[in-house]
Amino acid sequence: DSPSKGLGLCGWILVAVSFLFTLVTFPISIWMCIKIIKEYERAIIFRLGRILQGGAKGPGLFFILPCTDSFIKVDMRTISFDIPPQEILTKDSVTVSVDGVVYYRVQNATLAVANITNADSATRLLAQTTLRNVLGTKNLSQILSDREEIAHNMQCTLDDATDEWGIKVERVEIKDVKLPVQLQRAMAAEAEASREARAKVIAAEGEMNASRALKEASMVITESPAALQLRYLQTLTTIAAEKNSTIVFPLPIDMLQGIIGAKH
Ligand SMILES: *[C@@H]1O[C@H](CO)[C@@H](O)[C@H](O)[C@H]1NC(C)=O
Ligand SMILES: *[C@@H]1O[C@H](CO)[C@@H](O)[C@H](O)[C@H]1NC(C)=O
Ligand SMILES: *[C@@H]1O[C@H](CO)[C@@H](O)[C@H](O)[C@H]1NC(C)=O
Ligand SMILES: *[C@@H]1O[C@H](CO)[C@@H](O)[C@H](O)[C@H]1NC(C)=O
Ligand SMILES: *[C@@H]1O[C@H](CO)[C@@H](O)[C@H](O)[C@H]1NC(C)=O
Repeated sequence: DSPSKGLGLCGWILVAVSFLFTLVTFPISIWMCIKIIKEYERAIIFRLGRILQGGAKGPGLFFILPCTDSFIKVDMRTISFDIPPQEILTKDSVTVSVDGVVYYRVQNATLAVANITNADSATRLLAQTTLRNVLGTKNLSQILSDREEIAHNMQCTLDDATDEWGIKVERVEIKDVKLPVQLQRAMAAEAEASREARAKVIAAEGEMNASRALKEASMVITESPAALQLRYLQTLTTIAAEKNSTIVFPLPIDMLQGIIGAKH
């Protein structure tokens, strides 16, 4: 049942005939034999349906035999694609819409051709399902805060799975996490309320500090009655400097008691 090695006798005869034919018609057939591929491409050559020993050829010039050989070009450059937005139910039952970007390239052209029909679309589909699987195990706060870790997890999982296809997943990025509008509003309201509460606490604390300072000041003033008189006069000076006009200042009668007392 296992596939036989090599081309077999019949195969070799066919190849030899093809080679002779090429030699005989050299000036014409040479143009059919020479193939050129670009720096970033590799060619997988099939001789009578078997992949040639030595794997991928290129870049640059290589030769094939007419009639018996065919080849497939493989692009080795990094490809990026958007994972379309996925509606995901998180662990704490919130529906979020998440999209991302995946960067991958073909690492082994032989495997990418021989082991899978369409490495591109396979990788894309796998990236979508992996995104859903990884995010399904997280709750909302984790999704919002651990993007790096999620991306890294996804890259490892994808890379493991695509190894057999000769594909290397270089990078995965979570682009956007969209929350339902209602939840956005609720979260904004919550944040605003907590900010307001904090502001109120700070204001109250300030008030408390101020009143404590006032109390201390009043205690200092009561220690000597003359201090209060000085304070009155000081206030008068302040007002006079600020408002250049006639001032009617209520002079407390207590202040005069000192003077009256002295006359007696
Ligand atoms: C590609 O994979 C094949 C099969 O596993 C292996 O023989 C070959 O050496 C690999 N080529 C490179 C460049 O790793
Ligand atoms: C696919 O890749 C695996 C791992 O390298 C290899 O063992 C297997 O033979 C490949 N299958 C085909 C059909 O090439
Ligand atoms: C999310 O999950 C983490 C760990 O599993 C847990 O510590 C955290 O409390 C959860 N958050 C919510 C909002 O459920
Ligand atoms: C009130 O006083 C305390 C202790 O002196 C200080 O830590 C706190 O920052 C003050 N609060 C305000 C709002 O200034
Ligand atoms: C107060 O105002 C008057 C008129 O505007 C001005 O002549 C005078 O110089 C001012 N006095 C002081 C102390 O600024």
